[in-house]
Amino acid sequence: MSILTNDMSFKHRHLLGIEELSENDVSNILNLSERYIQLNREQQKKHNILRGKTLVLLFFENSTRTRTSFELAGKRLGADTINISVSSSAIKKGETLIDTAMTLNAMHPDLLVMRHPNAGAVNLLSHHVRGSVLNAGDGAHEHPTQALLDALTIRRHKGHLNGLIVAICGDIMHSRVARSNILLLQLMGAKVRVISPPTLTPTGIENLGVDVYHDMQQGIDGCDVIMMLRLQSERMQGSFVPSTREYFRFWGLDRKKLSFAKEDAMIMHPGPMNRGIEIDSEVADDITRSVILEQVEFGVAVRQACMELLALNLQKEG
Ligand code: NCD
Repeated sequence: MSILTNDMSFKHRHLLGIEELSENDVSNILNLSERYIQLNREQQKKHNILRGKTLVLLFFENSTRTRTSFELAGKRLGADTINISVSSSAIKKGETLIDTAMTLNAMHPDLLVMRHPNAGAVNLLSHHVRGSVLNAGDGAHEHPTQALLDALTIRRHKGHLNGLIVAICGDIMHSRVARSNILLLQLMGAKVRVISPPTLTPTGIENLGVDVYHDMQQGIDGCDVIMMLRLQSERMQGSFVPSTREYFRFWGLDRKKLSFAKEDAMIMHPGPMNRGIEIDSEVADDITRSVILEQVEFGVAVRQACMELLALNLQKEG
């Protein structure tokens, strides 16, 4: 039995990015996710909403929390879930992405979750399969379910997103999390600041409507939410920061820098966290301010909601 109500319509076949969603789509996903948070806290977590459906997870980049989260979400909804590890698959033998997509498509998967190091690769996959494709991160482009779970975490704490000041700090240049969050938070009426060293600030980022700061104290001043990002060195060619020690001194979130935010400002991080580089353990572990583990918990619920909405559409299309 579905837990959807009639007003929760969702017109998309795939979830490729926040860019394609409306305010109403986001609200529907978040509202449905709230219900899954409750269901996931019960003893009996398994439901049969996706019984008979096949979910394929295809990760071309390392991942712990996102892959586990999607896998758990699929299993809790009752889907048959298959995990393709790229390191032991035919992809390593030189198969192209389109050939992989067509091979998988021949097995009739209903939902495909993909993470890929290249921006646009997930979109490409969606043109070659009949099932619904969910983007679990494509290069530095988008990571829609991360932004949705971040929004859900903020909304649960603050009651709303509209009018909040959110600072996204650190390696903006290489971050799909930053991009998806900027799009989603602004769509929902929040004011977004990005705080980053000039070398890690993408040119033209202000065209997205954000305020750009190159100083933590000024940027954090008066914020409701502080979102820290990892230095994504796997996407860097060359040196963007002098040393991690110096990076921590100027850009790492510690008690002192945090004191410039609002007294009840929340601390977020998508993980994996590098303690002592972008965030100090003292603030990361402060349960009165840090919601990092709640982000992980709510991530499963958000992915369940997205999969249910997409699977239902596919069913309607026949
Ligand atoms: C992020 C990612 O992969 O983009 N992590 C995640 O999905 N939880 C951020 C990162 O890798 O730093």
